[in-house]
Amino acid sequence: MIVPANAETIRAAAALLRAGQVVSFPTETVYGLGANALLAGACEKIFRLKNRPPTNPLIVHVHSTAGAEALVDPSFSSSGKRLFERLSALWPGPVTAVVPKRETIPDIVTAGTGSVGIRIPANDIALALLREASIPVAAPSANLSNYVSPTTARHVYDGFGEDIPIILDGGGTALGLESTVISLVEPANPVILRPGTVTKEILEETLGCKVRAYAGASQSASPGLGPVHYAPSTPLALLKDIDLGTVGGLKLGFIAFREGLHLEYDFHSVIVLSANGSLPEIATGLYGALRDMDARDLDLIVIDECIETGVGTAIMDRVRKAAALHGRRYEDPRRRRHTRSNI
Ligand code: TXA
Ligand code: MG
Repeated sequence: MIVPANAETIRAAAALLRAGQVVSFPTETVYGLGANALLAGACEKIFRLKNRPPTNPLIVHVHSTAGAEALVDPSFSSSGKRLFERLSALWPGPVTAVVPKRETIPDIVTAGTGSVGIRIPANDIALALLREASIPVAAPSANLSNYVSPTTARHVYDGFGEDIPIILDGGGTALGLESTVISLVEPANPVILRPGTVTKEILEETLGCKVRAYAGASQSASPGLGPVHYAPSTPLALLKDIDLGTVGGLKLGFIAFREGLHLEYDFHSVIVLSANGSLPEIATGLYGALRDMDARDLDLIVIDECIETGVGTAIMDRVRKAAALHGRRYEDPRRRRHTRSNI
């Protein structure tokens, strides 16, 4: 059930969390699907609801740095602890630190990796909920596995309906892209596992050392961070990858990143994410636009691109992953349909 977030509904959601149930709440990035991170049985419900592979670990949310430190392996090296402390200066905020985990965290949360992703979200509703529940809360994005992350309570409801007893409605999320994930497991070699609005430059300045951007398609560094992540059901293609001259007659949608781009195609629908190509605006609207287009019964969604600096890195990371579901590059939907009908 979607309920407006207020003191009473936050109390009710906290009580459910403590009792081992699953609830959804807004953060500054996307909506999360939360459960008591110290109860394996509660976290199991998250995996079941999302149809999430057990190999993909969950991020644990807390409301204080003391709460965050309590999740770290006490025998983590002093250089590692120092980096963790420096990183915590960015909290509350959209960055997740992956560090060796304390024993109390069940293996289901960390997918047996031995390390845990931790963050303090910068959202008053999330913080109030975490304070009220006074337990660490494991929460992936509140979408079905492989589908687009939710940036509104309605998106969450569209995926799970009444299977979630409480969806706290806090309106549209401010940032629209999931947190930056950085691994500090090897303190001499911090690695960004997932780009986000906290950029490499900010991380290097905060940590006082070089930070490597994870490059590669391996699923091993962070199981959910491979080349394929989530996508709308409708095929999606980058504008630069298709020849609009060859797709005449198809029902196409176009997600533009700025106004004033005139393409020689009679698009069925167009969504413009920002008047002037502002990267934060594009980030905030991206997932809503993908979901919106997906509901319009299109043959193909065509999407713009932006420069890959700052937040642009995270935007293009998500766009490429969404376009690459199942490793599929764009192919003419008519041909694919034809192929399917022959099976
Ligand atoms: O902004 C966010 O991070 C949102 C909100 C709800 O906080 N959460 C989120 O969770 O995006 P999720 O599960 O959708 O994405 C977390 C990513 C996963 O791809 C997972 O593989 C990675 O972080 N991750 C979590 N724990 C990890 C660990 N111990 N080692 C490596 N990667 C980890
Ligand atoms: Mg996710």
